[in-house]
Amino acid sequence: MIRPAELIERKRDGHELAAEEIEELVLGYSTGDIPDYQLAAFCMAVYFRGLTAAETFALTDAMIRSGETIDLHSALGRKVVDKHSTGGVGDKTSLAVGPIVAACGVPFGKMSGRGLGHTGGTLDKLESIPGFRVELTADEFVEQIRTVGLAIIGQTADLVPADKRLYGLRDVTATVDNVSLIAASIMSKKIAGGADAIVLDVKVGDGAFMKSLGEARELADMMLELGRRAGLEVVCLLTDMEQPLGRAVGNALEIREAVRTLRGEGPPDFTELVLAACAHLLALSDLGTDEGRGRTRAEAAISDGSALALWDRWIAAQGGDPAESALPQAPVRHEVRAGASGFVSRLGAIRVGVAALDLGAGRRTKDDRIDHAVGVVCLRKRGDAVAEGDVLAQIHARDDPSAERAAVAVAEAYELAAGPPQPTSVVLDVVR
Ligand code: URA
Repeated sequence: MIRPAELIERKRDGHELAAEEIEELVLGYSTGDIPDYQLAAFCMAVYFRGLTAAETFALTDAMIRSGETIDLHSALGRKVVDKHSTGGVGDKTSLAVGPIVAACGVPFGKMSGRGLGHTGGTLDKLESIPGFRVELTADEFVEQIRTVGLAIIGQTADLVPADKRLYGLRDVTATVDNVSLIAASIMSKKIAGGADAIVLDVKVGDGAFMKSLGEARELADMMLELGRRAGLEVVCLLTDMEQPLGRAVGNALEIREAVRTLRGEGPPDFTELVLAACAHLLALSDLGTDEGRGRTRAEAAISDGSALALWDRWIAAQGGDPAESALPQAPVRHEVRAGASGFVSRLGAIRVGVAALDLGAGRRTKDDRIDHAVGVVCLRKRGDAVAEGDVLAQIHARDDPSAERAAVAVAEAYELAAGPPQPTSVVLDVVR
């Protein structure tokens, strides 16, 4: 048996650990034999010293071995695709991508996470739908993908339990934003979750873990390599998270925006990202198509109503009420108005994310309860021209004091300039 303190010391001093040593640490932590404080110290040593590629592979393998794995390909006899985002503000992409891809005839199975801090989580968004069940057994998950074409559920307790514990620990010990730890955390879940091909949305900028394109590329390269080793086809989209994605930030508000997007009425940046992700997923699928034709099919699924019909079937299959009128609404609305005329030159994603969090849309600790109705709708985005007094954003709140606090924070997220900023695209690069 290794002495965890020795391994922490060696990592602290910048030495490379052997695969068996990393495995003993991870499996020991997952069974409760190694305490939180030692893994916290280990993660901090990794944060400062980093992991080599070999250590990152060993960490990923050990996390996968901490629990069960699912083989969706064998269970369904089809190639299954999945998508995952590194996390951002207003990121409801999977909610629109899943129904579109499934409506194009490609099975889509995904295990999602909850939001923590200023980033939202797909499960929390789905739970704003009355009755929606995020906890399905592995058998129910497979059966629903078979019959409906689509299932999005919470990570089952048996799948990568080491990551479940470790992620919670990293979140409260300031050790989330390390490339190796993020890559191992995401890819262990994706590999154990059993899809054949995956599109990874690596967010870059103010509201993302990766603040620069260089860091995002490093993370993308590491995840591509982990995927390659596991026989998984991976495409990484590097996408803009300087400003919130789309307009809505907050659980039920984001569900409404996803549904509007499935109707063809979504905000331009969000619709663009959804179509790009669908095009890549369809090109990776067994449909035998390429990205250009994949995009055309995805657009057709929106315009012919089949993606929206799939949304209704999917939500009902997981016990939810698909009617938009069933979603909760916040009792208080407050408007944030422009103090001058000009162009929106910046809309800080973190500020908006934290304002939504303070309204109750997210959790500060793992046990906080979420208010699904509240949040922020950013009606004006970077590049938009505004006149003094125009409404920039709407606050949806539980009460007046929280609405007023959020309005101040959101107003500070907006910067106006005399001229328009350089136009940017939501998809900054594609790495494969
Ligand atoms: N998402 C994950 O699943 N893990 C991380 O470490 C960061 C984002």
